[in-house]
Amino acid sequence: MNNINPVYGMGDATYQAVGGHEGLTQLVHDFYDAMDTLPEAAAIRKMHRDDLTESRNRLLYFLSGWMNGPEIYQEKYGTINIPKAHAYLDIREQERDAWLLCMQVALKKQNYPERLQTYLMNQFAKPAEMIRQASQNRAQSGTN
Ligand code: HEM
Repeated sequence: MNNINPVYGMGDATYQAVGGHEGLTQLVHDFYDAMDTLPEAAAIRKMHRDDLTESRNRLLYFLSGWMNGPEIYQEKYGTINIPKAHAYLDIREQERDAWLLCMQVALKKQNYPERLQTYLMNQFAKPAEMIRQASQNRAQSGTN
């Protein structure tokens, strides 16, 4: 975090900017706390298991590698295709936006520069939209 003006996405600049493993753990913690409490997130909360421990760990491990930090998810569980991993769920605009809202709320709780928050929201919007498309393509084709 000693680079004053990091180029997010270059090497592990994003991972460092979020505070490495510790910072990411806090972000994921606040993200699932938001999902657990926001009325707008009630429907997506229900899609998850009652106990969020596993979800917290998996998202933390995934995001670590996604930000070019340690590839913990890959080491523990192997390769993941994010849209495919969600294709069994019915995710439309509302569910996608609820997920992104939880992330926005969590990001605001961190001591991150505005520029990092904006960057991350734009980055999260991409897989979130791919998930929505994969989910809806599956629904339209009628396959399961
Ligand atoms: C678009 C809205 C999204 C919804 C509604 C959603 C919902 C879910 C649900 C219900 C699970 C399974 C949890 C459980 O088994 O209890 C899950 C798993 C997961 N999600 Fe999402 N998710 C969304 C977006 C994202 C995004 C944008 C990412 C990554 C940036 C992500 C990363 C993950 C990961 C890594 C897992 C664990 C998958 C596994 O190991 O099987 N999700 N998600």
